[in-house]
Amino acid sequence: MRIYLLGFMGAGKTYWGQKLKFTLNLPFYDLDRVIEEGEGLSIPEIFENFGEKHFRLLETKYLRKVSENENVLISCGGGTPCFMDNMSLMKEMGLTIWLNASPGMMVDRVKGQKNIRPLLKNLNEEQLKQYFCRKLEERKPFYGQAQLIIDPIKFDI
Ligand code: S3P
Repeated sequence: MRIYLLGFMGAGKTYWGQKLKFTLNLPFYDLDRVIEEGEGLSIPEIFENFGEKHFRLLETKYLRKVSENENVLISCGGGTPCFMDNMSLMKEMGLTIWLNASPGMMVDRVKGQKNIRPLLKNLNEEQLKQYFCRKLEERKPFYGQAQLIIDPIKFDI
């Protein structure tokens, strides 16, 4: 069984991944950490040195690599389902779950961690809110293809 956790930055993908791996007894990979380990660079360093386009290529490369495991729980980056046909790949390979959290909750979670999220680093709180609402609308057609949609606030294990 392959399970992919999807959702915008701050939706709780890593948090739920850490919890679910014990419940489901599956090896767990956080895709951003896999990319960092594979490349020997942090996500902000990859964005800074090579740009977002290169990051997206790496993201797909490592998504395919971790998907070679037959039994695995993968927490994706916020943009993973929205580039390079990754959503079709994940739906073919396993179960996709969208953690559909509210924009307000996600902004609250990430506002103190902008340094580790290159797409947010130059935004103040108001710009952050606008960015989240706009990007979320853009990405919903991808997230919305998930086979399971969960409001993480109402979900517990
Ligand atoms: C991104 C989300 C980040 C990381 C990168 C790009 C995005 O992952 O992959 O900074 O495009 O939404 P998290 O959702 O785990 O923060």
